[in-house]
Amino acid sequence: MGSEWQFGGQDLNIPPGFKHLWFSGVVVSKFLLALSLLAAWMVPSSVAQAAGDAERGAKLAYTCLGCHGIPNYKNAQPMYRVPKLRGQHPEYLTMALQAYRGGERSHATMHANASSWSDQDLADMSAFLAGPPLGVAANAAPAADLPPAAQTCVACHGTDGIGITPEYPNLAGQHADYLERALTDYKKGGRRNAIMAGFAAQLSAEDIKQLAAYYSSRRPGLETSKKSVTTTARR
Ligand code: HEC
Ligand code: HEC
Repeated sequence: MGSEWQFGGQDLNIPPGFKHLWFSGVVVSKFLLALSLLAAWMVPSSVAQAAGDAERGAKLAYTCLGCHGIPNYKNAQPMYRVPKLRGQHPEYLTMALQAYRGGERSHATMHANASSWSDQDLADMSAFLAGPPLGVAANAAPAADLPPAAQTCVACHGTDGIGITPEYPNLAGQHADYLERALTDYKKGGRRNAIMAGFAAQLSAEDIKQLAAYYSSRRPGLETSKKSVTTTARR
């Protein structure tokens, strides 16, 4: 889907309908409205993903809990906390794992951890690690402390940090240092994602700090994964 566009020397794969939005971004309110419509309209390809089997995933993901099952466990170099996965969209987790496996995300340990699995294995582990969904409505009333730089983010990640489609990750309650790391990686190219590269390119280090602190403080929020399978049905 989409066509190749040169943007700041980078090839962006911008979906049809997105291009004019990109350049008319000066009209901020229109831009936001259009973005939210677009987001709803861009039916995520991951919906076609095979549903994950959490019980099978629990067996496969045993070693993952050595990092993702320990609260505040840290990545050593550079130092930031390992992301919380519980309450995340399982479809997004599978996409993220595919990105580590394929190299669009450059993290060496996660590349190794994601590499030997099939798509079904990744979907099963994602279903297990995600657990039950965060039970909140997307796009709740804006909080008073919404940072100015979040104006564009809310169209996809909500004011409450709940991704409005299964492809847009929940940010609520995520470790702030991990969010900073992820945004910096989109900005500098350690993560190659056409959508997020475009948005992150416009953020200063100070914006990134404020956005990470804001989304990290939203509740209900993501949590550290647990060892047992929850039987609560998803979707
Ligand atoms: C040695 C610790 C460690 C182990 C073991 C580990 N991970 Fe990770 N995982 C990380 C770190 C650190 C990151 C963040 C990497 C980055 O900066 O992109 C991460 C990121 C992820 C993400 C992306 C989350 C997001 O919000 O985008 C997923 C999904 C994930 N891991 C799943 C797994 C699975 C499944 C396994 C087991 C097969 C596993 N991890 C094993 C440390 C680990
Ligand atoms: C058009 C929709 C859209 C907009 C607008 C958007 N994002 Fe994203 N965001 C995404 C998608 C899709 C991903 C997953 C990318 C990937 O696969 O790595 C993502 C990923 C992220 C992640 C990584 C989460 C994780 O668990 O690793 C962070 C952090 C993030 N976005 C923050 C922001 C911020 C801050 C803004 C505003 C400056 C923003 N996003 C604007 C769609 C969007």
